[in-house]
Amino acid sequence: MTTAITTQMTPIRDKLGRPMRDLRVSVTDRCNFRCPYCMPAVIYGHNYKFLPRSEILTFEEIARLTRLFVSFGVAKVRLTGGEPLARRGLEKLVAMLAPMAGIQDLALTTNGVLLADKAGDLRRAGLRRVTVSLDSLDDGVFKAMNGVGVSVDRVLEGIEEAERVGLSPIKINAVVQRGVNDHTILDLARRFKGSGHVVRFIEYMDVGNLNGWKADQVVPAAEIVRRVNAETPIEPLEENYPGEVARRYRYLDGDGEIGVISSVSNPFCGACARARLSTEGKLYTCLFAATGRDLRGPMRSGATDADLRDLIAGVWGRRADRYSEERAAIASIPRQKVEMYQIGG
Ligand code: GTP
Ligand code: 5AD
Ligand code: SF4
Ligand code: SF4
Repeated sequence: MTTAITTQMTPIRDKLGRPMRDLRVSVTDRCNFRCPYCMPAVIYGHNYKFLPRSEILTFEEIARLTRLFVSFGVAKVRLTGGEPLARRGLEKLVAMLAPMAGIQDLALTTNGVLLADKAGDLRRAGLRRVTVSLDSLDDGVFKAMNGVGVSVDRVLEGIEEAERVGLSPIKINAVVQRGVNDHTILDLARRFKGSGHVVRFIEYMDVGNLNGWKADQVVPAAEIVRRVNAETPIEPLEENYPGEVARRYRYLDGDGEIGVISSVSNPFCGACARARLSTEGKLYTCLFAATGRDLRGPMRSGATDADLRDLIAGVWGRRADRYSEERAAIASIPRQKVEMYQIGG
């Protein structure tokens, strides 16, 4: 086995001509929430067997693979889960990735529960920014949506601490489900208007196999924009980078911006440059994929960096995923999909 640093950068393109720019790394399949749309408590109870430690990539393995992905053009790395802060010592992984040449953006998506405790360590280890999921400011609604009765204040404390230690810009992700929390979106927008943080409203998606998704539970991004605009006028903004997931809108009064993520009503597969590495070391080329290519097995059997690069390039070269654009035609056809918490969204 070799862990020699691969410095040569060779950009690759998939079958639809899309480069590989982002890597989303799931560092654990565990989570301290039981959001019904992701890990329903009835299924993920006390007896549920999450991955044993031996099947989870070590930090060294993640760092090695990340370096190989960077050698293909990945410039942005996001740590996800499950809940990434549930993985002990995560700051050690951050410290390994932060100085890696080629990574221009290193971020983390968290539910915020452990953030007040961990923000300082993460910042010192070199993390640059965080995105915090917070579906509602209404305690009753939020407790039901996280499935374990955690209150909003806990997450707000995490956001405040992240801000205090300089993990910014902070983004706040809210999944919007009609009839569940859509009556609370204006509160969220109002709360963070002028704070410097960016609230992003996410259309509820048919990720995984367990949430019983129905199209009428989706509040289309256009409706969200209309509702916010009716209270405080907003206008569209240019994207921050090509293929940005969220569409941006700024408040006309200059008090910041919001985003909407319209994977259902207005898919963005055309510019999708995201690779996903699961907790157990499988490479997925789409959030809605059924299977991923195992990299852990070959890596643990002595594959060299060159062998692993061939594997990754082969998978990307065959990639033609565009699930969200095909959803209307294929969503009704039964198919197994990877679960959200295995690849971190
Ligand atoms: P920024 O780097 O801050 O722009 O973050 P991001 O939007 O790339 O990442 P984040 O983890 O905040 O994702 C926000 C939401 O968009 C989550 O619900 C993701 O599941 C969803 N999302 C991210 N990437 C994709 C994608 O490739 N396809 C689909 N359908 N949804 C995605
Ligand atoms: N639809 C849309 N977003 C989802 N997330 C989890 N499940 C879904 C879904 N079915 C969000 C999380 C988090 C991000 C990574 O994905 O709330 O903000
Ligand atoms: Fe945990 Fe995120 Fe899934 Fe909720 S959506 S159960 S916070 S991994
Ligand atoms: Fe990318 Fe798949 Fe999402 Fe389309 S549905 S944007 S291909 S991850």
